[in-house]
Amino acid sequence: MNMTASTQRVLSGMRPTGQLHLGHYHGALKNWVRLQDEMESFFFVADWHALTTHYEHRDVIEKNVYEMVIDWLAAGLDPNKCTLFLQSRIPEHAELFTLLAMGTPLSWLERVPTYKDQQEKLKDKDLTTYGFLGYPLLQAADILIYKAHWVPVGEDQASHVELTREAARRFNHLYGREANFDQLVAASLEKLGKDSAKRLEKSRKKFQETGDEGALGGAMDYVRGHADLSDAEKERLQGWFKGTGRAVLVEPQALLTEASKLPGLDGAKMSKSYGNAIGMRENAASVEQKIKRMPTDPARVKVSDPGNPDACPVWEFHKVYSDDDTCAWVRDGCPKAAFGCLACKQPLINAILQEQQPMLDRAQPYVQSPKLVREIIETGTQRAQQVARETMADVREAIGLKY
Ligand code: TRP
Ligand code: SF4
Repeated sequence: MNMTASTQRVLSGMRPTGQLHLGHYHGALKNWVRLQDEMESFFFVADWHALTTHYEHRDVIEKNVYEMVIDWLAAGLDPNKCTLFLQSRIPEHAELFTLLAMGTPLSWLERVPTYKDQQEKLKDKDLTTYGFLGYPLLQAADILIYKAHWVPVGEDQASHVELTREAARRFNHLYGREANFDQLVAASLEKLGKDSAKRLEKSRKKFQETGDEGALGGAMDYVRGHADLSDAEKERLQGWFKGTGRAVLVEPQALLTEASKLPGLDGAKMSKSYGNAIGMRENAASVEQKIKRMPTDPARVKVSDPGNPDACPVWEFHKVYSDDDTCAWVRDGCPKAAFGCLACKQPLINAILQEQQPMLDRAQPYVQSPKLVREIIETGTQRAQQVARETMADVREAIGLKY
């Protein structure tokens, strides 16, 4: 992955529909925390997306917006390193969503797999709504408005990022060609100097004739890294090179997060609605009790019965939490009935509590003073809105909405 920290931006969001648990931590947040050190990072609370499924239960959302941000901070997101904000506070997302909607074929949305899947899964909710059909396009607006290059998401969201790419491509195709495109390109090339311009022309020809990806990559790196060019000029030059016109919107890529290896207490996917989750900031007594009650290999009825870790959800937890020695101890001792299941669980209880302690510590000031959380979101929202406004100015101009 070629990542130049200064220019690569990452964006992701989460819906505030419930308390975050250790599955979220191991599946997504740990990765976000890493990314904030590597790229310019934007993370937001997707409260409008939550409304697509919870339009009748907005109280759930209200309760969870700031709680979720505290969970993020507890996980280690640092507002000095990344931008944290709230979707509904930036109405520009809705404006871009509306404008993208004009040229988006209905069939693109109908064939997104999550559309039918979720309707099937959430049978108790009426999801035959216009908003729910538009869910991935709203997500596209979230992403495109920040010109994000990378979108860290789980496999289930890959089709939404793909739709986002299609929406960007279509937008650039429809509106990317400015009336004075050729003149503007010539002016930018002049800025680069004769030699560089000549080299670019040559590799452009090569790319357009032979599709040489190396030529494309080299030219894109060169243009992106050029300090004298504005972002708009860079986008225009890149569009000129590829022959697509100026790319007003950037095609993002999914940064697929490995599925969380941490299942729920019963071995199924960890989910609050299945009642098999451990909250990120759950208190120690409750964690201990949950692990102690966790089901084990059903063949191990008595302590003297041999067990099989591969048939036991506790083993899955060891794989995430325990060091090699402890894992070897379990693999060796369980089939010999060398110890009981409670003993087997004890190192896990210790490890989970140890993982949670720093989270509880980090959360504490925010729990004590919710005002701090609001201030973080306030600052982040302002920063994000600045970017969103710049993109929208570009977008309106590209469409020609300046009567
Ligand atoms: N749909 C995402 C989810 O359910 C949440 C989301 C909304 C999102 N907008 C986004 C994720 C933009 C990444 C980028 O997990
Ligand atoms: Fe599961 Fe451990 Fe009991 Fe074996 S000893 S069945 S791995 S809890």
